[in-house]
Amino acid sequence: MQHDFADSLIRKLWSLEAGIYCDHLLRLDRDSRHSRFGGAVSDDFIRDYVEATYPLNAVVHGFFVDGMLRGAAELRPLGPVVSREAEAALSIESSWQSHGVGSALLDRTLLAARNRGIKKLHMACLANNRRMQELARKFAAELSFDFGSVVGEVAAARPTPLSVMREFVADGHGFATAVLEVQSRMFKPV
Ligand SMILES: CC(C)(COP(=O)(O)OP(=O)(O)OC[C@H]1O[C@@H](n2cnc3c(N)ncnc32)[C@H](O)[C@@H]1OP(=O)(O)O)[C@@H](O)C(=O)NCCC(=O)NCCS
Repeated sequence: MQHDFADSLIRKLWSLEAGIYCDHLLRLDRDSRHSRFGGAVSDDFIRDYVEATYPLNAVVHGFFVDGMLRGAAELRPLGPVVSREAEAALSIESSWQSHGVGSALLDRTLLAARNRGIKKLHMACLANNRRMQELARKFAAELSFDFGSVVGEVAAARPTPLSVMREFVADGHGFATAVLEVQSRMFKPV
């Protein structure tokens, strides 16, 4: 399916937008919901999950098309702040999968993790989730991972002035810019 990304945008969600995040997660088809939550979960489970997410200082980046939230990446701190650990989880609605949205969202999430001094990033990922594993592999320079449950080390855990600036600038840019930026960094000669 071809998509026009002209009116799409990636930006952080505000805490008041918990409702649209919940609606997005409820719209995931059965397989995507299963992959996102590591099993079959009910609508009530998702509502409770979202209610619990926001008080936990989660950073959620959203992918919007024509004002509708179609994808999200959540960075949720785990344990005490000093543990410097967080969990990352992605969800893209099926007709928007395999268009680079997950890559762009994971890139933003890694940047946010780095700027928060997070050293270890857990990614709850089922062993048969090839696409998520491919996605993690694309970021192997920044994230080393394990199959089954992907646990990545954020390479440069300390924020740099440039990384803080990049997050700041990224907050004001659209999805196309984000994709171009990921691609230009991916295909840089080594
Ligand atoms: C997993 C998920 C986040 C990936 O996001 P996406 O936007 O579909 O992925 P991308 O288009 O960025 O592709 C990432 C990589 O996966 C691989 N990929 C893409 N589509 C694929 C497919 N249909 N089959 C296998 N691999 C595929 C490619 O290597 C791709 O990189 P490339 O295009 O540079 O070659 C998304 O599909 C999703 O939300 N799935 C349901 C929920 C889920 O699994 N969440 C993860 C658990 S936390």
